[in-house]
Amino acid sequence: TGGCVVAVDGPSGSGKSTVSRRLAIALGARYLDTGAMYRAVTWAVLRSGVDLADPSAVAKVAGETELGIGTDPEGYGVTADGVPVEVEIRGSEVTGAVSAVAAVPAVRSLLVTRQRDLAAAAGRIVIEGRDIGAVVAPNADLKVFLTASAAARAARRSAENATDVGHTATDLARRDRLDSTRKADPMVPALDAVVLDTTELGIDEVVVRLREMLAERG
Ligand code: C5P
Repeated sequence: TGGCVVAVDGPSGSGKSTVSRRLAIALGARYLDTGAMYRAVTWAVLRSGVDLADPSAVAKVAGETELGIGTDPEGYGVTADGVPVEVEIRGSEVTGAVSAVAAVPAVRSLLVTRQRDLAAAAGRIVIEGRDIGAVVAPNADLKVFLTASAAARAARRSAENATDVGHTATDLARRDRLDSTRKADPMVPALDAVVLDTTELGIDEVVVRLREMLAERG
């Protein structure tokens, strides 16, 4: 059918986003950043003023928000109710609240359905997130789980965002803990995922290894 799905999961700072985009470009495939979808919903929830600790109110806002998400690896856009939110969703306010929103089961099922539809429409696609291999695309042609030491991840993120390393490390540790211990689809490598530690690897090296794995799988 010409379809090919690559699932890239892992914590923040593992190199997931850069690797996934580069891999999609190299394969001539589409690209889906599922974290951006959870972030855009979080932006809408914050704007609505509902209580983050009220799952049904959060789910209601998620259901009423019109999400726009592009799948072009060279420049995908994210909108919420028609508002471009690409910059806002990377800010500290959204980053601080996203794990709480992503822990709401009704929000997850809504976004997982949307992610599967986008993947089906794309055919060839690299999808990155936390639960892609385990939940969103269990039949993916290749599943990778990228890791890196906590220090390397904090250093990468703080370089990207021009933020203090110590503060970034604390924030990452908090988000990892929330994402790994939540009841609904916690972040965990799929049983058949290839776990790749990128602490000592450059982006290009990781992309080359993933292309080799895909070639081996035919
Ligand atoms: O990847 P990114 O850091 O943008 O993801 C932001 C947050 O969205 C994660 O910390 C996690 O809470 C949530 N997320 C998720 N499942 C995904 C992708 C992201 O729960 N597939």
